[in-house]
Amino acid sequence: MALSTELTTLTIAPPDDWHLHLRDGEALEYVVAATALNFRRAIVMPNLKPPVTTTEQAMAYRERILAAVQKACDSGQYSAADCAQMQQFQPLMVLYLTGATPADEIDRAMASGVVHAVKLYPAGATTNSDAGVSDLLGQCSAVLERMQALGMPLLVHGEVTDAHVDVFDREAAFIESVMKPLRAGFPKLRVVFEHITTRQAAEYVTEQATRDEHGRLLLAATITPQHLLYNRNAIFKGGLQPHWYCLPILKREEHRLALLKAATSGLPQFFLGTDSAPHARHLKEASCGCAGCYSAPYALGLYAEAFESAGALQSVEKFEAFTSRNGPAFYGLPVNAGKFTLQRTPETVPETLPFVTDSGIVPLRAGETLPWSVTARA
Ligand code: DOR
Ligand code: ZN
Repeated sequence: MALSTELTTLTIAPPDDWHLHLRDGEALEYVVAATALNFRRAIVMPNLKPPVTTTEQAMAYRERILAAVQKACDSGQYSAADCAQMQQFQPLMVLYLTGATPADEIDRAMASGVVHAVKLYPAGATTNSDAGVSDLLGQCSAVLERMQALGMPLLVHGEVTDAHVDVFDREAAFIESVMKPLRAGFPKLRVVFEHITTRQAAEYVTEQATRDEHGRLLLAATITPQHLLYNRNAIFKGGLQPHWYCLPILKREEHRLALLKAATSGLPQFFLGTDSAPHARHLKEASCGCAGCYSAPYALGLYAEAFESAGALQSVEKFEAFTSRNGPAFYGLPVNAGKFTLQRTPETVPETLPFVTDSGIVPLRAGETLPWSVTARA
């Protein structure tokens, strides 16, 4: 008699999201619970309007996030067990780098204990990046020097903004024209190449596995669920699909396969970062639609599906390395205590979820049934 070897349960240390957009105000209140329930910590992006450029602003934003989690619990919408999970959530704050960021802001950020990184948005690269940097080495050398000395990571949106460079080539061009000169000029600077989307980025980060004198990796990368599961055909399937539009944009299949290989490799420099980026439905389904996929509520199931598609779930250790171990190791934080269980229990993603306007928000894979879901959190 043949024994069934189908894998049905995955048990992992509680995961973290190392790249997340939570927004602010009312929007924050709609989205924070999904992340607080499914992740113990998240690196929270600072591209608010106006951006989070100072430690003081980051500390105030952190308080608003924690208050929004508490408000969700107080609303009575969640079970006591879910609230107990949500109340463990820790937002890890990030400063938005501008050409005017003073070097001593890095000292304040380090001393605060709540700021864990600084984010580079090349000016004009993406949503709310207008206040970003137009000439990194020209404008920010003193700040980069200080970050290198103190071990504060630089998180990089890695796309050039030159209108002459094809939108599908902007990440690969960034490696040559910004990433390599940056790392040559600041060889001990710790860098996270955020939401990588190309074979070139996956190979570059795989090859650059050097560490500093404290044994810390100098370069790492986050990878989103959409870039592991979809290539650029998804944006045009049967018509224009605005909910598959994010930046950096989905690429060709060869790039998706390279990302899958990197994510499932178990290598310590690759970890989970959803880049979950909520925009109201009417702002995505518009004549000039916003970039961003909202994935936070179903992200863990999506990643499990991606790993399974690559035949990489049999080794739960590699999945757990990506979701729960490599990120904390890079950021010098402990692995979360407890256990999350995913099961082959199908879950249907709603067509829309409530959001600030009546149009709601359309999550990634709206209306589809995902094979894996989170069934227990402890
Ligand atoms: O698709 C994206 N959306 N990419 C980004 O870099 C920013 C994000 C957002 O804030 O909406
Ligand atoms: Zn992002």
